[in-house]
Amino acid sequence: MPELQTDVAIVGAGPAGLMLAHLLHNAGIDSVVVDNRSHDDIAHTHRAGILEAGSVRMLGADGVDSRVLTAGHRHDGIDIRVDGISHPLDFPSLVGESVWLYPQNEIFVDLAAARARTSRPTFFSVTDTSLGDIGTERPWVRATTADGDDLRISARYVVGADGSRGPCRAMIPAERKEKFFHEYPFAWFGILCEAPPSHEVLIYSRSERGFALISQRSDTVQRMYFQTPPDTEAADWSEDRIWTELQARVAGPDGFELKTGPIIDKTVLPFRSAVHEPMQHGSLFLAGDSAHTVPPTGAKGLNLAFADVSVLAPALISAMTHDNAEALSGYSQAATRRVWKAQNFSYQMTRMLHTDPDQDAFETRRSLGELRSMLESVHGRRYLAECYTGWPDD
Ligand code: PHB
Repeated sequence: MPELQTDVAIVGAGPAGLMLAHLLHNAGIDSVVVDNRSHDDIAHTHRAGILEAGSVRMLGADGVDSRVLTAGHRHDGIDIRVDGISHPLDFPSLVGESVWLYPQNEIFVDLAAARARTSRPTFFSVTDTSLGDIGTERPWVRATTADGDDLRISARYVVGADGSRGPCRAMIPAERKEKFFHEYPFAWFGILCEAPPSHEVLIYSRSERGFALISQRSDTVQRMYFQTPPDTEAADWSEDRIWTELQARVAGPDGFELKTGPIIDKTVLPFRSAVHEPMQHGSLFLAGDSAHTVPPTGAKGLNLAFADVSVLAPALISAMTHDNAEALSGYSQAATRRVWKAQNFSYQMTRMLHTDPDQDAFETRRSLGELRSMLESVHGRRYLAECYTGWPDD
């Protein structure tokens, strides 16, 4: 295969990589996208489904034709249950915003279709991806295509939107980067089930037995989670045992009951916070999970990846169309400001809602006090609503 020349080589065809490719295309900037996963693998990866209003606006970009507003559901709040007592947060009255429930795999399907309509190359199922010369103005990406051909892409810039285990981040020299990491002493047990929604909005529940989240996917499929020890084996949990545990964690004097149905997927999700700084080196820029991972409690993962793209796309466009490389120099600093706000919110939600088997009784009661201070004050509720719906652009 001949060497491909492009403006921006994008490693990773998840929502961040494809959103970026689309915004660049709309501004007349060319890109080539590669991913080691197949289209169907990405389309069937279940991830959080809550979109901030700003992310929904990005999906409104010309030519994306996302189904978020037709197939997605607007949610005007969440319910935080504390030992069985419901505390609804109403986002429009608190902060004048809403969020949208629209699964991440549907966003990918929309963006992949939009990309295909541009006829610009996207290579799924590649192997042996490597990159180099990122310290120069002619960096490259190489891979083997699904057909076994040698793919060589020569670009002006490379963007690593290749997730937490991709090859891009490792290219930033060790002496130029710093890793910030926090491990939590629990995991989430996640299920997908065939049942109607149990409530109009998502329920985040703190109980003596631990945290539970009652989320949704559609009118007929629901997503629910409960906190477990990290070494939990999904196979050890029967359907009955799962439903008894989930129900016990949301039960309260209001008699609330979950709507149950066949469980079609069970997974144990790791739980950690990581930030890698800086998010740029030479001609390489990182976006999304390749630079940061958040615990799922705040539903910030995809929203942060889109926020990175909303800073990176205009900077790349300015660099390419006005020969203004300076536009890119502030990317990492601008993006990481929001990343740390999201890390703080995800950490705070996690700590306020989970029980930590190793913590002392003081900490358990203190965190309950923190949660009550927030929920019983309009300022606290407004703070939570602002964090959850997303901060205005810096
Ligand atoms: C999900 O639907 O998977 C989900 C929703 C909200 C969260 C985390 C996960 O905070």
